[in-house]
Amino acid sequence: MSRRPVNPSRRLGDGGSIPFVASIQSKSHNSPLISIGLVIVGAILLIGYFYSSSGAASSDIKDVSKLEGGSSCTLEVLQALPILKKAYGDSMHKVLHVGPDTCTVVSSLLAEEDTEAWGVEPYELDDAGAKCKSLVRKGIVRVADIKFPLPYRAKSFSLVIVSDALDYLSPKYLNKTLPELVRVSSDSVVIFSGYPGQQRVRGEQLAKFGRPAKLRSSSWWIRFFVQTSLEENDTAGKKFQQASAKKAYAPACQVFHLKSFS
Ligand SMILES: *[C@@H]1O[C@H](CO)[C@@H](O)[C@H](O)[C@H]1NC(C)=O
Ligand SMILES: *[C@@H]1O[C@H](CO)[C@@H](O)[C@H](O)[C@H]1NC(C)=O
Repeated sequence: MSRRPVNPSRRLGDGGSIPFVASIQSKSHNSPLISIGLVIVGAILLIGYFYSSSGAASSDIKDVSKLEGGSSCTLEVLQALPILKKAYGDSMHKVLHVGPDTCTVVSSLLAEEDTEAWGVEPYELDDAGAKCKSLVRKGIVRVADIKFPLPYRAKSFSLVIVSDALDYLSPKYLNKTLPELVRVSSDSVVIFSGYPGQQRVRGEQLAKFGRPAKLRSSSWWIRFFVQTSLEENDTAGKKFQQASAKKAYAPACQVFHLKSFS
């Protein structure tokens, strides 16, 4: 339509100002009403743009808080990965993660060099993304009730990391599940569990977890380990603490390290 070809260098020369408003104004100099109208349309488009981009940002926030609400300590595992690497070094080469949102953890682990990773999702995967579905299809992530024996042979993984899931088990099931996690590990088991008073699961998610989390104190856990004859891995614990101090990292969850069966 326009007889004048668009001169790209001139548009670039506008340097940051909104080029389409400027060129509209110069073309419609003989009709100030149309020009004002077009500027208003431009303004509406800009407002629409800002609205839609802030809308995108708030849906990102929703996703994050959904993760926090359902599984605060799984989020913590992601933060702690560099520290775990320092504490476990070579033991991080074959990892099983057990807990809600395991796809997120497994994807992060698989992105690391020299790390194989598998996951057990103890709850239903209602709104799994395509990436997660593909991990399930490949058998890397399994959906399994951890109240029953795990579908792996003894010492299948050098390191087993569990987050949140144990908080939802009564001692009757913990008695079986925790030794199961130790059984499938060859070096160590790392437990991430919530601090008492840290309840963050909302009503709609309780249905998924079956019961509210029972967040136990660290003395409760330590007594439980002794009762079930599970030994803490003090070497790993010390290394984890040292690496945390060096990076000024303070985990938002309790972290325990257990030795595998010899
Ligand atoms: C769990 O096991 C320990 C040690 O075997 C036992 O003392 C305790 O009573 C058990 N708890 C439950 C709830 O079965
Ligand atoms: C304890 O943790 C260390 C890593 O800090 C690991 O090398 C070792 O295999 C673990 N298990 C035992 C039984 O010491």
